[in-house]
Amino acid sequence: MNARSNDLLVDAIANDGYAITPDFLLPPLIKALADEARALHAQGGLQAATTGLSSRRSADNMGLRGDFIHWLEEEEASTAQRDYLTAMRQLQQDFNQALFMGLFELETHLAIYPPGAVYRKHLDQFQGRDERQLSCILYLNEDWQPDDGGTLRIYLNGNASEPYVDVSPTGGTLVTFLSARFMHEVMPSRRERISLTGWFRTRSTSL
Ligand code: OGA
Ligand code: MN
Repeated sequence: MNARSNDLLVDAIANDGYAITPDFLLPPLIKALADEARALHAQGGLQAATTGLSSRRSADNMGLRGDFIHWLEEEEASTAQRDYLTAMRQLQQDFNQALFMGLFELETHLAIYPPGAVYRKHLDQFQGRDERQLSCILYLNEDWQPDDGGTLRIYLNGNASEPYVDVSPTGGTLVTFLSARFMHEVMPSRRERISLTGWFRTRSTSL
């Protein structure tokens, strides 16, 4: 299906720890994934996301994270979702071959941010659990304009508020970064903001 080369992406991770890849997947596939996400949301198939390991959304974490999510199950995946998973499996192989990262599996959820929703500054690894190695966010938004907001801000120097890189959630862009290294934040948008977020994990070492 897709003979794209992931060389640049893998090199960027090796050199900088993060990579921004426009047009990671073709527009018709991005559109199919977005249409399915909207349809599922309209049927009530997404749940308010929670933070950390807690499964309840409290008034407190509403302000931290305002998106709605649905975890992908491989057995129930649509054709479009399978195509996404195939591309991600190729990426996993390329990372493991080039960088010996030992990536073992991918967990993925759809996410929809209603207008105004944010995800405040955070790290993707949970405290004391370090299986999440690489965060991969594929944006599904057609015709995203700078005024629409919703940028992903990646902080390059630990907890410091500068320097940072802003990524526009334009349909087809894949952003990848080392989960342990970069704090990041989702800014509010004027439009609904849709993405597929995946984490490559290594085998758990804690027994
Ligand atoms: C996340 C996250 C960023 C984005 O889901 O953990 O940081 O741009 N998402 O959607
Ligand atoms: Mn995150």
